[in-house]
Order: sequence, then C-alpha cells, then structure tokens
Amino acid sequence: MTHPGPSAWSELQQALTAAVGQGVGVVFSGVDGDPDRLHPLERAAMGRAIVRRQREYAAGREAARMAMRLIGWPEAPVPSAPDRSPQWPPGLIGSISHTRDACLVLVAPCARFLGIGVDIDMHEPVEPHLWPLICTPAEQAALATWPENERGLAVTRLFSAKEAVFKWQFPLHRRMLDFQHVHIHLAQSNSTFVAHIDQGSDPRVHPHVCTQGKILCRGEHVVSWVITPQDPTEAGLQRQEKPGLNCLTP
Ligand SMILES: CC(C)(COP(=O)(O)OP(=O)(O)OC[C@H]1O[C@@H](n2cnc3c(N)ncnc32)[C@H](O)[C@@H]1OP(=O)(O)O)[C@@H](O)C(=O)NCCC(=O)NCCS
Repeated sequence: MTHPGPSAWSELQQALTAAVGQGVGVVFSGVDGDPDRLHPLERAAMGRAIVRRQREYAAGREAARMAMRLIGWPEAPVPSAPDRSPQWPPGLIGSISHTRDACLVLVAPCARFLGIGVDIDMHEPVEPHLWPLICTPAEQAALATWPENERGLAVTRLFSAKEAVFKWQFPLHRRMLDFQHVHIHLAQSNSTFVAHIDQGSDPRVHPHVCTQGKILCRGEHVVSWVITPQDPTEAGLQRQEKPGLNCLTP
C-alpha cells in the first residue's frame, strides 16, 4: 500500500479549504498519531482499543487541535461521548473522519456555523452485492441510468455523502439513521448533492429535513461534507417552516 506523503495532504487541504470557504479549519493528516499526546479526557475513550485504533484516534485529536489553531482558537481536548460523537469545546463545532491512510477534520465556530459533517473514504468501487444495503430504491433506480462501469464508484460517493449527512445531523437531532433513511441526489457534476432525511417514526425529526453537501474526488480519496451556516442564505439555502430545526432547502 502506498501512503501519500505530506505534500499530498497539503494539496488536499488546500483544495478542500478553498472549497469549504472561509471560517472553517481544515486539516488532513496521516493516521499514525501518538497516543501519548492524548489528553486524559480523550484517553478514556480508548479503553482496550488496539494500537492501530489508538493511533487513528490520536491522529484525529492532533488534527482537531491544528484545525482550532488555523481558525485562531486555543487548543482544547475533544473527548468522545458514550455514543462516540466528538465533544467539541464550547463555541466550536466540528467533524472527524478517517480512512485507511488519511484523517480529516473540519472545525468551525458555532457563532457562524450551525452544523458540520465530513467523511473521507478510499475512492474504490463498492461491490454490487452491497448496493441495496447502501442505496434506497430511488437511488438504485438513478444508479441504473449510469454507465455500468461507473456505478460502483457512484455508490462509494453515495456512501460517503450519507456518512457526512449522518455526522452533520447527529449533534442537531441525536438521531441514529441507517442508509435507507437518507436519500442522496448526486448532481451530474459529481461535486454536489442534495440529501433528504426520512422522518421514520422519530417525531423529533421534521419530515422534510433537507440539506445540500459537496463532494471532492482527489487521487485515491473521496471527501464529502455538509456545512450549514447560521445564516442559511450564505449557502444559498432557505430555512423552512421550523426555524432552528435545520430544515434547509436549496
Ligand atoms: C460514525 C459513523 C457514521 C462513521 O464511523 P466510521 O465508519 O468509523 O468512519 P469515520 O472514520 O469516517 O468516522 C469516525 C468518526 O466519526 C465521529 N463520530 C462517531 N459517532 C458520531 C456521531 N454519532 N455523530 C457525529 N460524529 C460521530 C467520531 O469523531 C469518529 O472518530 P473518532 O472515534 O476517532 O473520534 C458510523 O460508524 C456510525 O456510527 N454509523 C451508524 C450510522 C450510519 O452509518 N448510518 C448510515 C449512514 S446514514
């Protein structure tokens, strides 16, 4: 396996920093963090985790602190809640993702941003037998219109977008979602998507939660993210019906 070096991270970081816009701290790194540098509050989440997971977790925390510095905030610990979600220091929101060889963190101030979710994956095609697990029937119908040899990668992008949407909505709605709850409409450009979250039986979730996200495919990686500003018009969105409940439509 080849591991992209720091120059590949800095290229990804520059591309993503430009794509997410001002005010968001973006840090890419490898996954080989130093567990000895974890804050005691963070170490608690490690329990009996294997060394590889400890290194991955530590890489995420180091990247989170670097992202805080990038947006002019003091470094602070980011412990994990029992549900595994990261606990950002007061005044900040953020999101963490890792893949085989890379870690990615986005951090932003709550004063400007309401929600944030990110995912990084290897840009490798998903096996066809997994498509029905990841894709809703409507997504599968849309997939059937793609050239056959591009469908596996399209599912990878759908998967990545759904993971980003999950992380975006969780701190806002505290809802566990499965792949069938989230419908993604990928734009033909492959660089944007619209996500609809199905309410299911959860009365706390507004029936038409809808947001938009972005996708960046670079080299071996695909990155998806959803960022909603406090003022949705900044992102060309309109808040509908229930202010504060993140019902945002393009
Ligand atoms: C969190 C999850 C989406 C991704 O975890 P993963 O496969 O390990 O992949 P990633 O590396 O991209 O993300 C892990 C990071 O997500 C963050 N995370 C975990 N649970 C989270 C939650 N409930 N809300 C927000 N972020 C969360 C953590 O920071 C974690 O890294 P850390 O443990 O090192 O801090 C997944 O494991 C999960 O909980 N799935 C259940 C829901 C789901 O996937 N539904 C299908 C999509 S809608």
